[in-house]
Amino acid sequence: MTFIAVSIPVNAPEDIGVAMAHAAASVEAGAELVEWRIDDWPSIEGSAAVVAGLVGDSPASSILTVRSVTEGGGFEGSADELATFLRAVAATDACPRYVDIEYAMWIESEALRAAVDELHEDVGLILSMHDMLGRPDDLLRRAVDMQAEEAADVVKIVWRARSTRDNLEAFELLRHRSKPMIALCMGELGLPSRVLAGRAGGFLTFASSAAGETADGQCDVTTLVQRYRFRALRPETMVYGIVGWPITHSLSPIVHNEGFTSAGIDAVLLPLPVLKGWESFKATMAVLLSDPSFNLRGLCVTVPHKEHALRFVREAGGAVSDIAERAGAANTIVIGPDGALAADNTDAPAIIETLGCDPSGSRVALLGAGGAARAAIASLVEAGARVDVFNRGAERAAALVETMDNPMCTLGDLDEVSGYDIVLNTTSVGMEGGPEPDGNPVEDLGLPAWVIEEAGVVYECVYAPRRTPLVRAALAADTPVVTGEAMFLAQAIRQFRLWTGCEPSSDRWRQLID
Ligand code: ATR
Repeated sequence: MTFIAVSIPVNAPEDIGVAMAHAAASVEAGAELVEWRIDDWPSIEGSAAVVAGLVGDSPASSILTVRSVTEGGGFEGSADELATFLRAVAATDACPRYVDIEYAMWIESEALRAAVDELHEDVGLILSMHDMLGRPDDLLRRAVDMQAEEAADVVKIVWRARSTRDNLEAFELLRHRSKPMIALCMGELGLPSRVLAGRAGGFLTFASSAAGETADGQCDVTTLVQRYRFRALRPETMVYGIVGWPITHSLSPIVHNEGFTSAGIDAVLLPLPVLKGWESFKATMAVLLSDPSFNLRGLCVTVPHKEHALRFVREAGGAVSDIAERAGAANTIVIGPDGALAADNTDAPAIIETLGCDPSGSRVALLGAGGAARAAIASLVEAGARVDVFNRGAERAAALVETMDNPMCTLGDLDEVSGYDIVLNTTSVGMEGGPEPDGNPVEDLGLPAWVIEEAGVVYECVYAPRRTPLVRAALAADTPVVTGEAMFLAQAIRQFRLWTGCEPSSDRWRQLID
């Protein structure tokens, strides 16, 4: 079994009360171990005695950790100073389940090795290393050397993920371990290593409490246990992902994981952030698909990779649905058990389904020229609407209109703007974490504000936040508005059907994201 260890910072002995409450709540939520991060304590007079109390009162078995500044913590002292502190702790007869000692200090200081030896005989040793910048060049040698240290009960190797590939390497380390091991990646890109640690046979994964993260990229115990079903994940568990940048605010993990749970499907959906650009997308896909043990079975694809998704599947000889072909963009990839790929576009039908009116014969001001714009145009034109495209980059808009090759889709002309029945935003302007979170795309693209007032409906594809500047402007003008979560839900339901053949509960999903 792989433990969940909640990592709790305790900056000074007087913070113990609050820290204990965080620990108790985390244990209640599912953590089995509590890591007490007492980085500053070695320099506090008499604090060793307090350690005994902290360990004795801990709501679950403890890990005592003094993390150095070099490895992401706050301890500025030397290995010998840490040894002095540990000897004082040993004298109190405190008995944490584990003490975490950094490998660099361990090999440097004989005094530290001796001090660890003096600890209560039931205290286990976690020998650790953390690279705050990225994957160390000598990762494999370090893994071998650390495991060769006889005194180590558990070896812990952590580094900052620079790409999704790092997670797979962490799993690889775990597969080839010769003693209990923790292999985790820090940062936004490292979440799979934390969530799938159990599936890969890790000794533990770290999670955060309400006190906040002690390492970049930890998720909290409740999210780990409930949303990602940490306890239920097995080597056979199918993995799905949401690919895009940024995806911190994506609702996809919330709804799809609920869908898997309710339908009794052994699968988990994780954020798999992929940096901008075709090369990053292609490289990440190649890595994820090359490791059958990862068991990747499907992807939601979002900004800025929808066109890349289509291209990738097409170049790999996979199947492309008609609507994805017409849109020139895919937001869904289905991966068969044999690795066969299929690309689809659920944005396109979702827009028509949630528009709230029959678009036939209506005039649409379409904002944006990316993947979502292509899906919207393909479905609107098919439904009989006339679409004018407005985009920041004129060349991209022109190329889009050209590839659509349909007289019903033309370039918008700012000098000849007239009333539109539908104003539809597919740009990322107004999106939390996006390039311009406070922007209104109508204003940004130079359209007059009255197009919002005169529109029959303003349709917003951005769902984080719910009230984007465009939605607020439409509400202020008393124009009917369709907010981003309507489209999000409709396209997500279709994705879930494509992956699983099952029908999720739309009411439940709506409640979850409200
Ligand atoms: P998606 O595939 O989801 O549509 P995308 O391909 O990145 O994502 O497209 C994002 C859209 O938002 C593009 O139309 C982009 O305009 P450019 O083609 O000029 O890049 C638009 N966009 C992004 N940031 C913008 C900004 N600050 N102002 C106006 N438009 C912006």
